[in-house]
Amino acid sequence: MNEMRNAVTDKFKALVVTKENDVVEHRIRQLSVDALPEGDVLVAVNYSSLNYKDCLAVFGRGNIVREYPMVPGVDLTGDVLSSESADFQPGDKVLLTGWGVGERYWGGFTQLARLKSEWLIQLPEGLEKLRAMAIGSAGLTAMLCVMALEEQGVSPDQGTILVTGASGGVGGVAVALLAGLGYRVAAVTGRRGTDDYLYQLGAKQIVDREDLEQQSRPLEKQRWAGAIDTVGGKVLARLLAEMNYGGTVAATGLTGGAELNTTVMPFILRAIKMVGVEVTTCPIPLRKTAWARLTTELPGDVLERIYKVISLDEVPHVAEQLLAGKIDGRVVVDVTL
Ligand SMILES: NC(=O)c1ccc[n+]([C@@H]2O[C@H](COP(=O)([O-])OP(=O)(O)OC[C@H]3O[C@@H](n4cnc5c(N)ncnc54)[C@H](OP(=O)(O)O)[C@@H]3O)[C@@H](O)[C@H]2O)c1
Repeated sequence: MNEMRNAVTDKFKALVVTKENDVVEHRIRQLSVDALPEGDVLVAVNYSSLNYKDCLAVFGRGNIVREYPMVPGVDLTGDVLSSESADFQPGDKVLLTGWGVGERYWGGFTQLARLKSEWLIQLPEGLEKLRAMAIGSAGLTAMLCVMALEEQGVSPDQGTILVTGASGGVGGVAVALLAGLGYRVAAVTGRRGTDDYLYQLGAKQIVDREDLEQQSRPLEKQRWAGAIDTVGGKVLARLLAEMNYGGTVAATGLTGGAELNTTVMPFILRAIKMVGVEVTTCPIPLRKTAWARLTTELPGDVLERIYKVISLDEVPHVAEQLLAGKIDGRVVVDVTL
């Protein structure tokens, strides 16, 4: 452990985003431990992941980064090197998702991080670090959405569950989780080239995103018992009008737009529900439950199909592609490469 500590803390690599005179730049820098912000746990990071938000942060878009210089990366896993917290000991394998890390506080695109212990959880038993980052905030969000549907009484016998943005990170894990739990899943995608991938994840039906972008009447034909929406905008407006009587929508994303132009009709005439799902500051007990379920309920072979691994140097290029909608599934960043 000491050798590892010395090797990493002498000099380590991080992707740093700076802003000067309104110009945002990102660069891989060699830093020393003194450069790290305050915190009570020092972690040798192994993996981070690339979420939609991280891509915006790398290019200084979308008002994600609240303070410069910033190390983006909302997720990370690694080993504790030293700790002033009684909750963590050197050698512990830890996991962090959210809490403003990579936005307000330095995040996971680094080989070394100093963090607040209240953000960390122990890596769940049976979950490898790489797998945890293949799941990441996106997978945690997908699990929280599934749990939100369950809490509202949505069950597999009630009919088809619609997942939007299905070829993306949150959507892909949501399709796989729901299919694994016995739900019939319809996957909405704007990229029909991903049909095979979506069927492999467990989707039984593919819906063209364009069909759901059509303006709808206040009430359309009832089609869905539940929905996990990562897209917002026109798609969410339309799917609300297509929900079965008593159905629930878990809403968690806005890749298609933050606005929602709808009516109260599906709510007051079909008793539908819409539940917001938030992952960044989700309380620790709920996180632990969700991670425990992700460890056991997400089939390993399915997860293998969802993610690819890149190095820290590849982050800007892949982030550009992800923002252009050209990446399927999840991207893990191996910061040690
Ligand atoms: N990742 C997280 O930790 C997390 C957590 C909470 C919330 N969210 C939110 O959930 C959303 C999805 O996140 P993600 O990480 O899954 O992103 P992602 O991997 O980039 O996937 C987003 C998917 O949305 C669809 N899409 C892209 N542009 C669109 C457009 N203009 N209109 C409609 N659909 C579009 C695409 O799927 P198709 O081509 O298949 O249609 C794309 O693959 C984002 O708004 C994000 O902020 C993410």
